[in-house]
Amino acid sequence: MVTPAYWQGKRVLVTGGAGFLGANLCHALAGMGARVTALDAMMPDGGASARNLEGAGVLLVRGDIRDTELHSLCEGIDVLFNMAAQTSHMGGQKDPVADIAINAVAQVRLIGVMREATPKAIVVHASTRQFYGRPRSLPVDELHPVNPPDANGVSKWAGEQYWLLENRVLNRPVVSLRLTNCYGPRLRIRDARQTFLGIWIRRLLENEAFEVWGGAQLRDLTYVDDVTGAFLIAAEQSGKPDVAGQVFNIGGSPPISLLDLADKLIAANGRQGRYELREFPADRAPIDIGSYAADDRAFRTATGWAPAIDLDQGLKLSLDWYRQRLTDYL
Ligand SMILES: NC(=O)c1ccc[n+]([C@@H]2O[C@H](COP(=O)([O-])OP(=O)(O)OC[C@H]3O[C@@H](n4cnc5c(N)ncnc54)[C@H](O)[C@@H]3O)[C@@H](O)[C@H]2O)c1
Repeated sequence: MVTPAYWQGKRVLVTGGAGFLGANLCHALAGMGARVTALDAMMPDGGASARNLEGAGVLLVRGDIRDTELHSLCEGIDVLFNMAAQTSHMGGQKDPVADIAINAVAQVRLIGVMREATPKAIVVHASTRQFYGRPRSLPVDELHPVNPPDANGVSKWAGEQYWLLENRVLNRPVVSLRLTNCYGPRLRIRDARQTFLGIWIRRLLENEAFEVWGGAQLRDLTYVDDVTGAFLIAAEQSGKPDVAGQVFNIGGSPPISLLDLADKLIAANGRQGRYELREFPADRAPIDIGSYAADDRAFRTATGWAPAIDLDQGLKLSLDWYRQRLTDYL
């Protein structure tokens, strides 16, 4: 359970704060009385949107972690939620230099500034299940071998490891959360760049058929409020020896095939909608991870976190949210 009183008056920096997960965190933090700065380069290909922060009451600083002056942003903060990243798998393959510049080199830059500006601040880093690659078996726990399927997996793994060193060598409270597919309000739905679910939601609300690629792959989706809860709880409990310096998988709903998920989404839309089944695109197949399901018992046991929103509820909440704001997000 999140402890709202913990956050009252806390100074918090959220990198990638105008993106999908960062913005939801910003809303929650500000709602509990934290003093929040969102740093975001407003990258066109990800989930960034100034709309995401409307009504949040946080300061949005437009800047890039690769070259912005970071010292004044980091000085005196109590907690850093580190969400900024190049997140596109195809994008990472096309331009691995830009990908690693953000996900690893700029992380080292941010780490250096944090050492000078706020050596004791807590860091919760947004990591990914992606670098496990094609799972050897399901569910995947944190001891699964790292076998990145693409450049983005390599850079995200490197970035995470640099942050963990800060704990190992300098004893900073750092927690890294390896996320699965997340969904909910403020997800990019314009196209499929953030997840397939974004474009599914858009097409459904526009009364058009959406495309299901493959269909048999399993996914365990996490509703964004549960992701936010995981980040907040990780920070609150980062002083505990079984939490500090750890990596944790974050799962969500029980694994479901994409075909069943498509049916659930249509059911959540009042049984309105249709989809077309397509072969998995040949250009994406070499970097596809197939089926995935997280074993997130370590995080649940260490912190008491558990997802509160089940898939039916989460899909309905997402559709209701976008129904009222569709044009804003296209
Ligand atoms: N959403 C998911 O399903 C998911 C799954 C696994 C991991 N993650 C991780 O969670 C984090 C947040 O992802 P998200 O889904 O909210 O993505 P997002 O694209 O919505 O948010 C990332 C934000 O970072 C910003 N950003 C990118 N490069 C930057 C830079 N150089 N300087 C400053 N800001 C920069 C972008 O403009 C964007 O607003 C990422 O680290 C991502 O790897 C997300």
